[in-house]
Amino acid sequence: ALVTTKEMFEKALKSDFAVGAFNVNNMEIIQGIVEAAAEEKAPLILQVSAGARKYAKPAYLMKLVEAAILDTGLDICLHLDHGEDFEICKKCVDDGFTSVMIDGSKHPFEENIRLTKEVVEYAHAHGVVVEAELGKLAGVEDNIKVDQKAATYTDPEEAAEFVERTGVDSLAIAIGTSHGAYKFSGDPSLDFERLKKIHEMIPNTPLVLHGASTVLPEFVDKCNAYGGSIPGAKGVPEDMITEAAKHGICKVNIDTDLRLAMTAEVRKYLQENPSDFDPRKYLGPARDAIKAMVQHKIKNVLKASGQ
Ligand code: G3H
Ligand code: 13P
Ligand code: ZN
Repeated sequence: ALVTTKEMFEKALKSDFAVGAFNVNNMEIIQGIVEAAAEEKAPLILQVSAGARKYAKPAYLMKLVEAAILDTGLDICLHLDHGEDFEICKKCVDDGFTSVMIDGSKHPFEENIRLTKEVVEYAHAHGVVVEAELGKLAGVEDNIKVDQKAATYTDPEEAAEFVERTGVDSLAIAIGTSHGAYKFSGDPSLDFERLKKIHEMIPNTPLVLHGASTVLPEFVDKCNAYGGSIPGAKGVPEDMITEAAKHGICKVNIDTDLRLAMTAEVRKYLQENPSDFDPRKYLGPARDAIKAMVQHKIKNVLKASGQ
């Protein structure tokens, strides 16, 4: 069935695993992810961005997720990723999503609170849970100075006030991760001291880690070996994700690693089979690559197998 994150987060908060939240854009991606989660008997969040809604159309995504539930019997949370205003959150609630994110992180504190409260009020009235964000995820990060960190990373005291005043169900925080394939120019590092303080201040609030792809060299190299050009890509080391899950991180957002796995496979297939032009021939292996990546994440990184 379509479920909210309530039960999975309650469990994740008490133990050391985290729930994977994977971005979906088409049928093959959805099928690869749910096959992996079904085999691992793991809790699952499928998330849809505004870009995904535009690309695939809301009705297709909803029906594909319903089909995935029908096919696997899995409990799945369907979540809006980075909703930027009340309207898109309302649309997704009305469409039957079980969770929405209102990302007011670009707004000043008070405006973020006002916007988040508005979404919480509407969503909760419809049985839907809400994720909000406090603090800003940076771009390529290196040598960030302490005062810069204070300005962009999530402040623990503010986090406590924010959760108290908004009644939000989970909170995305900024501790050094960023979106995309270029997260660090130097050595990767996350502010674990800050994470621990935040978790101490709001121990009952499930925390969310965005920008949590690892950008595994194997897949970057494979893309590059078959005609791609993504030099210098770097992500969050896997052991840091596993560690974060022990300190309140209950939801881990992963998109880039799926994109890399899928693209590497398509590039390889097309280069090795120049006379093929049946899309199933390369989208099939691409789907398998998504499945293998998600299975690896669930089992070895998020420790969510059997949860
Ligand atoms: O947070 C960003 C996600 O990776 C979704 O990306 O907006 O290109 O669909 P997108
Ligand atoms: P990555 O780009 O690290 O996969 O992060 C995805 C994300 O945070 C989606 O909200
Ligand atoms: Zn994100």
